[in-house]
Amino acid sequence: MTETLAKIDPNFARDVVQGLCQPRKTIPARYFYDLRGSELFEDITRLPEYYPTRTELALLERHGDDLARLAGRGRTVVEFGAGSVTKTPLLLDATEARTFVAIDISAEFLRHAARALAAARPALEVVEVAGDFTRPLALPALPGPLTGFFSGSTIGNFDHRAAVDLLRSFRATLGKDARLVIGIDTRKNPHLLEAAYDDAQGVTAAFNLNLLHRINRELGGTVPVEAFEHRAVWHDGYGRIEMHLVATRDVAFAVAGRHFTMRAGETIHTENSYKYTPAEARLLARASGWEPLAAWTDPQDLFGLHVWAAADEVLQP
Ligand code: AVI
Repeated sequence: MTETLAKIDPNFARDVVQGLCQPRKTIPARYFYDLRGSELFEDITRLPEYYPTRTELALLERHGDDLARLAGRGRTVVEFGAGSVTKTPLLLDATEARTFVAIDISAEFLRHAARALAAARPALEVVEVAGDFTRPLALPALPGPLTGFFSGSTIGNFDHRAAVDLLRSFRATLGKDARLVIGIDTRKNPHLLEAAYDDAQGVTAAFNLNLLHRINRELGGTVPVEAFEHRAVWHDGYGRIEMHLVATRDVAFAVAGRHFTMRAGETIHTENSYKYTPAEARLLARASGWEPLAAWTDPQDLFGLHVWAAADEVLQP
């Protein structure tokens, strides 16, 4: 009992209640990732419709030499959100990294991922930093210069202002002569996008609905999950896929002792996933204190892998 309680994020109740009190209900996407949510996300990455993971992997494989040339050999690689145990080795090996710093919110996951990497590379020094990379983090003293790695188009889950703030803070954390290797999903045919976020097997639907199960499990919620449906829509004006949970009938429920009602058709907005044209990605880099060095895509332009360099003027007061 104590162990289960200890794992509950103390901000979860506050953020859910605040989000459900808004005229347009919303819950932050970071709460998808409890144990079950993380498993479902792993399943998503293997779906035929979900192109980002396999496309980014192929780009990392294809551009190993370019990565070494542009991101630098023998550096310290700092991964923000060390979730990509399959992708990280490709970058570490291509750039002959000497030290690897894995930052992740889950200490347990981190230990597992870091040990697997270290076991296969005895010469690599692995440093685990358990923490939230969206907040300012003090890294231990590290041999520089540093190369950041932010894969999977996780940047797409931040709105533009938050994305710029985050990339600026990466810039500050990584310091002088830093590089950033970043995966950014591209704008493309909305049918492909909507299929990627509403797959035929219903895995993404289960991932979205798990948020309601998590609320019921962890916050003593009474949300009638069967009365909700997954919806993924492309919003061209914002350049983003939106995920919602739609009430299929009028519902009333409680969460953390607070009572809520929703009308049939009303939604809870659970995630944005922004997509970037090449020009928008360059703009994002420059707005955040980075200078784009290279960008590669696959033949269908499904996904972009970018290398940026720290723009020096940002260091000046
Ligand atoms: C983690 N993130 C980059 C995923 C995305 O594509 O926005 C999360 C996701 N949501 C639904 N499918 C995948």
